[in-house]
Amino acid sequence: MVSFIAGVYLIVSFIWTLIRSWIICNTKRFNLIERYGEGSWALVTGASRGLGLEFCHQLAGEGFNVVMAARSKSLMEKEAEEISTKYKVKAIAISLDASSDTSRKELLRVTEEYDISILVNNAGMMHRSSFANLSFDKISDVFELNLRAPIKFVNAFVEKMKKRKQQSAIIVVSSLTASIPSPFMNLYSSTKAFISEYFGRKKVDAKVDMLISEYGAVSTALLPLPAIPGLISDTVTSVKCTLNLLGKRNVTFGTMAHYVQNWFMQMTVIRAFVGVLGWIATTKFVDNLLRKTTQRET
Ligand SMILES: NC(=O)c1ccc[n+]([C@@H]2O[C@H](COP(=O)([O-])OP(=O)(O)OC[C@H]3O[C@@H](n4cnc5c(N)ncnc54)[C@H](OP(=O)(O)O)[C@@H]3O)[C@@H](O)[C@H]2O)c1
Repeated sequence: MVSFIAGVYLIVSFIWTLIRSWIICNTKRFNLIERYGEGSWALVTGASRGLGLEFCHQLAGEGFNVVMAARSKSLMEKEAEEISTKYKVKAIAISLDASSDTSRKELLRVTEEYDISILVNNAGMMHRSSFANLSFDKISDVFELNLRAPIKFVNAFVEKMKKRKQQSAIIVVSSLTASIPSPFMNLYSSTKAFISEYFGRKKVDAKVDMLISEYGAVSTALLPLPAIPGLISDTVTSVKCTLNLLGKRNVTFGTMAHYVQNWFMQMTVIRAFVGVLGWIATTKFVDNLLRKTTQRET
């Protein structure tokens, strides 16, 4: 009887997840430019490729001017040119090393003159290794980029945004690994868990729409695998689903596939399986393997 009830519960909860995620991902988005201000700018960090670049395209498509910030300035300059021609908006590229405090301050100084209505804190990095195999400098780099940069930028922009007449928005790109066991990337997942918790999944101010994007796997340079339906999403769909929810929700997992993955990962049996993987990750054999990979990356 107990197993029957548990089985029914699982089936109903799975079907509900499918329906709910379909509804969420197909939510009709606000008219973003009307909501956040005609002629205003979107600032995207980590804009040279992957999800960040896609945010620039889709926000420009909505009529926003874009400030693109990352380290690869020449790459962004080419993209900025393409964006302004294609969407008839202004697009500029600013060099930013978000793991350096001097560079972060410089970005804040340079963007002072722009009416930034949307901040997308997207730049992030991951080492596929347990922290025990990483040098302190590498760990600090991850802290600087994944933790200190979003805190610095969000705090600075919330203050400015409160003074705008219109509504503003902040998207913080976190990860599904923030809430699921992630034995092979525990440094990365713990920084993402921190920002998801820190930014609180709630409004920071009535005038600022806050959205935490806890994406599952997305095909980018960070995860150099092709998009696989139901498993690995593409940047276009992930960003599209995110923008549909701007001003409507405080957290998203991205695409339907990511909602379903989250459901699976929250199941006790799957957590137990990942727990076993976690144990395997600590064995000498895997530890040596990770050490070798890390040395190659260094
Ligand atoms: N791909 C996934 O499966 C996945 C899943 C969940 C969450 N995410 C998150 O999504 C965000 C974007 O990742 P992605 O998948 O699009 O990766 P990506 O293709 O590797 O892009 C990362 C972006 O961050 C920039 N960046 C890296 N270090 C930087 C630094 N020190 N200062 C400024 N910019 C820096 C890179 O540009 P430069 O090298 O030119 O600086 C690049 O534009 C990250 O926060 C990541 O954690 C990704």
